[in-house]
Amino acid sequence: MKIVIDSANAEKIRQLNKYFPIDGVTTNPSIIVKEKKPFLPLLQEIRGVIGDEKELFVQAVADEAEEIVEEACGITKALAGPVLIKVPVTAEGIKAIKLLKEKGVRTLATTVYTPMSAFVAAKAGAEYVAPYVNRIDNLTGNGVQVVEDITRIFTAHRLPCKVLAASFKNVQQLHQVCLSGAHGITAAPELIQGLIEHPSVASDVQKFKEEWMEQYGKVSTDLLSVL
Ligand code: G3P
Repeated sequence: MKIVIDSANAEKIRQLNKYFPIDGVTTNPSIIVKEKKPFLPLLQEIRGVIGDEKELFVQAVADEAEEIVEEACGITKALAGPVLIKVPVTAEGIKAIKLLKEKGVRTLATTVYTPMSAFVAAKAGAEYVAPYVNRIDNLTGNGVQVVEDITRIFTAHRLPCKVLAASFKNVQQLHQVCLSGAHGITAAPELIQGLIEHPSVASDVQKFKEEWMEQYGKVSTDLLSVL
């Protein structure tokens, strides 16, 4: 199951990538504009931070299929490493996903709110779909259930498309999605950090250290030398 950072903040990505088992980075227009930097240099900076092996997801902004294809080809040409183009599941978007599949350009179908739009995107050739868990919840839907339904449909019909669940506001949603059978989660840096946060951890570690120091008086990297 993949853990992907949903951010375009190069510094936060650098820090998280140093400590956590990160598989890639997703961006979208809202995330990009927050950084107030030129588009392509920002993506190149992110690529430099995560290296050439990890997946980088970039969203197309055009409306018409042919324009989406043009944007996608430009972005994939300008960036090194594995790049996936995020395409919204409009009718033009589905057409673009089909055209991009023929050209060998990898895509992720985004703005997914229903299992059936995910199904259509997968049939069109999307490599990933990104159901918007929190946005579905906010519309009084059940985001986790939508993720679970999509994974069941893909499994039942042997569709090779992966579910990269997106739009999270808390760790509980991430926990539920991990149980749902999704292939990955993409979340803000703060939420990924939140996966390991628990007040008991720091106090447990402190207690272990105090008891150790009482007996041995020092912390050594060579444990045998203090015995
Ligand atoms: O990439 C899609 C995702 O970032 C949307 O998340 O938090 O804006 O609902 P959010």
